[in-house]
Amino acid sequence: MAASRRSSQQASGTFECVTQSAEETRQLGERLGGRLQPGDVLGLIGELGSGKTTFIQGLARGLGIEPDQVKSPTFVLMREYAGRTPLIHLDGYRLEQGSSAVWLDLEWLFSPKRITVIEWADRVADCLPPEYMELRFAYKTTNQRTVSAVAHGARAAQIISEIQKTHETVSH
Ligand SMILES: Nc1ncnc2c1ncn2[C@@H]1O[C@H](COP(=O)(O)OP(=O)(O)O)[C@@H](O)[C@H]1O
Ligand SMILES: [Mg+2]
Repeated sequence: MAASRRSSQQASGTFECVTQSAEETRQLGERLGGRLQPGDVLGLIGELGSGKTTFIQGLARGLGIEPDQVKSPTFVLMREYAGRTPLIHLDGYRLEQGSSAVWLDLEWLFSPKRITVIEWADRVADCLPPEYMELRFAYKTTNQRTVSAVAHGARAAQIISEIQKTHETVSH
């Protein structure tokens, strides 16, 4: 029986690349956006200026949303954009590290009808669902950013492996 045991818990993928410009980061976001489905959750982590919002602009493009609407919401914690699937954009920048955001309506935020993307996901770590895609952004040079993805759950692993394949096709 042991042989038939499914390894869904191990079905985790990773992806890493260096983008050479803001537009390349948007293109990566657009490719991911084109693959997302209602219920998908993305948690973005990275210092200020590392490209999180830029990436979400591309993500919006991939979902048929006008990318200019996507801005770093300095005072606004959350925005919703209408697209093929509604996109919720939460920015935890104003939240204190490790604060438990008990007032967040998690049922609304992680609805199976919407796609949810969270900047500064490390600040609302307690609130994240068990399955989501973690995306890490790091400043490399003025125009280069390292973008890496880690799957939490089989669904994110599946998307990452698809992105990995298209990335290989695009860059070779
Ligand atoms: N390769 C790159 N990827 C993303 N942004 C880049 C890149 N190169 C330069 N930039 C610039 O860096 C800044 C990133 O800002 P932003 O996306 O708002 O970061 P964050 O949301 O992480 O604070 C933008 O001004 C963007 O034009
Ligand atoms: Mg931002």
